[in-house]
Amino acid sequence: MKNLISITDFSKDEILRIMELAREFERHPHQPLLEGRVIASLFFEPSTRTRLSFESAINRLGARVIGFSDTSNTSVTKGETFHDTIMTISNYCDMIVMRHSLEGAPRYAGEISKVPVVNAGDGANQHPSQTLLDLYSIQKTQGTLDGLNITMVGDMKYGRTVHSLLQALSQFETRFTFVAPPELALPEEYRIFLKEKGLPFEEKTTIEGSISESDIIYMTRVQRERFNDPIEYERVKNIYVLKKEMLEGTKDSLRILHPLPRVNEIDYGVDASPKAYYFPQTENGVYVRMAIISHLFGVK
Ligand code: CP
Repeated sequence: MKNLISITDFSKDEILRIMELAREFERHPHQPLLEGRVIASLFFEPSTRTRLSFESAINRLGARVIGFSDTSNTSVTKGETFHDTIMTISNYCDMIVMRHSLEGAPRYAGEISKVPVVNAGDGANQHPSQTLLDLYSIQKTQGTLDGLNITMVGDMKYGRTVHSLLQALSQFETRFTFVAPPELALPEEYRIFLKEKGLPFEEKTTIEGSISESDIIYMTRVQRERFNDPIEYERVKNIYVLKKEMLEGTKDSLRILHPLPRVNEIDYGVDASPKAYYFPQTENGVYVRMAIISHLFGVK
């Protein structure tokens, strides 16, 4: 039984296998390979893309979905513990996909569950299925994952998609630029991780001057829900707004990704640019999540 809790749970070969499977599912999106299976979709924290693309993937694979999109109608409101909730639901299904605001909750679920657990995002920690769809989007638009210049902009501190993605890309000789205000700079543990891997990275505080050589700009939202102090959020919330004119002089092959939702960090004027890829990126999520589920079930 294999879980997907952190992107580091997948080897480079497994990541490449997911890319290959996702390409197959994109070519043939309706494959009832999992008829008769039941997958629980447990979202203790809000979601649009992750939940619905997982549920779309489950349906396209011919399996059934049970679950909840918030806990207000569950016995969590009566005081039932996370432990008891997972112990119970793992009796009802063949796999659990879960999101939780507490870092480590999916790992704990994976330790006590009878069925595989997929982390659909835990606090500021990890979002491995998003990373796999980001990698798929990068490979599809750049033709490779190797040796790219990746510029990540926004919330490097709380952005779980950033943390997972940099760990995955560290296997592909990536050159990173991180653009963030000092308050939202990359946590030290990830700097140490990159140094230990011997990967070059720069940290900057402005977008200007950071994107002329980029192959990918990975924009992120400032994660309001992770701030203890609302005043601190107000100070940094609109710090970076990518505008159409800022793309002048960038590579033709540049593509702009964003895990979404966006709040204000990409101006709507950018949407018509051929370099904007954040909505096709959401579609890729379905094929990649079909690939993840099939892989964890060992479907050939
Ligand atoms: N990218 C992402 O996790 O979006 P949702 O929060 O809408 O699932």
